[in-house]
Amino acid sequence: MAANKARVKSVEESIRDTEEPDHQLKKNLSALDLTVFGVGVIIGTGIFVLTGEAAKTTAGPAVAISFVIAGLVCALAALCYAELASTVPVAGSAYTFSYATMGEAVAWIIGWDLTLELALGAATVSVGWSGYLNQLLGDLGIPLSTSIAGEDATVNIPAMLIALLMTGVLVLGIKLSSRVTSIIVGIKLVVVALVIVVGVFNLTKSNYSPFIPPAESGESEGGLAAPLIQVIAGFTPSTFGVGGIIAAAALVFFAFIGFDIVATAAEETKNPQRDLPRGIFGSLAICTLLYVAVSLVVVGMQKYSELSVTAPLADAFRSVGLSFVSSLISVGALAGLTSVVMILMLGQSRVLFAMSRDHLLPPAMAKVHPKYGTPYRITIGTGIVVALLAGFFPISELAELVNIGTLFAFVLVSIGVVVLRRTRPELDRPFRVPLVPVLPIVSALASLWLMLNLPAESWIRFVGWMVLGVVVYLAYGRRHSRFSAIGAAERKAAGQQAGGER
Ligand code: ALA
Repeated sequence: MAANKARVKSVEESIRDTEEPDHQLKKNLSALDLTVFGVGVIIGTGIFVLTGEAAKTTAGPAVAISFVIAGLVCALAALCYAELASTVPVAGSAYTFSYATMGEAVAWIIGWDLTLELALGAATVSVGWSGYLNQLLGDLGIPLSTSIAGEDATVNIPAMLIALLMTGVLVLGIKLSSRVTSIIVGIKLVVVALVIVVGVFNLTKSNYSPFIPPAESGESEGGLAAPLIQVIAGFTPSTFGVGGIIAAAALVFFAFIGFDIVATAAEETKNPQRDLPRGIFGSLAICTLLYVAVSLVVVGMQKYSELSVTAPLADAFRSVGLSFVSSLISVGALAGLTSVVMILMLGQSRVLFAMSRDHLLPPAMAKVHPKYGTPYRITIGTGIVVALLAGFFPISELAELVNIGTLFAFVLVSIGVVVLRRTRPELDRPFRVPLVPVLPIVSALASLWLMLNLPAESWIRFVGWMVLGVVVYLAYGRRHSRFSAIGAAERKAAGQQAGGER
């Protein structure tokens, strides 16, 4: 009864729900599939695009340190994700964990928040994909008009097409999606390896000095574009120096987004208790190493102040006279971003799936396709929304909003570990975070710290989106959930119907 008052959905209930015949996903994935999935979604716009901007405008060659900082924050959060995902192996990731630990209202908030990471993230990367496509078409002498492709397009046609194409792949089935991903991940890894191996022979020592450029007051960074922490503390906004390394860490954090999505595939994993932690840590470790290596190579090939902000990797090779490598990188980036779009949308559809299965959203949305075993209605809906966002909105400035949304989820997941240890100490935890509660608390604070280093204007948008979420919850979710009278009646009727159909 106490649990009911706080509207906490028990872990057992969450697991039982996955067994409802109409709402059952296929269990197909292994640890290797998960790692490939992880690498498939992690390596994308972050390394292929943001490295240039972060080094040129915020951190200098020390951007490699920014990657290490962002990677450490993610590793702390990954420990918490791994514990919760191995204890509650149910679709929905942070949303599901919050429902089992902090109750329905927090779960709703986190589910709503995750749309920033997943749908908005997918739209952001789709726009990046369109930019790379146009660059490649430009190399071939057939560029598309900038009104229909690239960051400044009025209607970004290629961005919409890639989002819809990936939606089709997702509807046809997760195993197929994972095969497509493996091929793409292979291409992506070869290209990244090529950057490192060829790049190492083309370094100029003087490009590394100063490694940490001295702090400068950044007038253009004033006002709401400055990190919130500088606005609150009344510092003169500055770039470079130690503050710049941290602000760049908050920016390149985008490059790590995705390892948490491995946890959203828990319910489709053959042996989640063992394979989830392996998938999460495996993909995170591989990507961190590659990022540090790539960023060190790129700032060594070209002076940080001369790096390109749209295609820094390709451009660095052009600057040392290796144009053919630069075209290969563009092809790799194009392939790489494809899988990022697909998996972000996969994560989004699974979170919405879990929310509608809980009647916080209309339950009919969660119906699984009889043949393909995928939540096709939600997947198609997600694809359409992502395509519209990517096609019609100036997404580039919203990328920082994706970071805030994701970091906020990390904060709640970290707190969730401590709460669940207190409320359900007896649960079987195949993976346990060491040093609880210290490590989860450090993890929550570390994520919060990066959040505070993001621009004040992103915070305003973030708060606005979350307030809208609370309104929607009060108007629909709260009145239809399992803990409400309407929700109980709906669930009973659905049960009878399912029984009658069998
Ligand atoms: N980590 C993903 C990327 O960098 C979202 O594109």
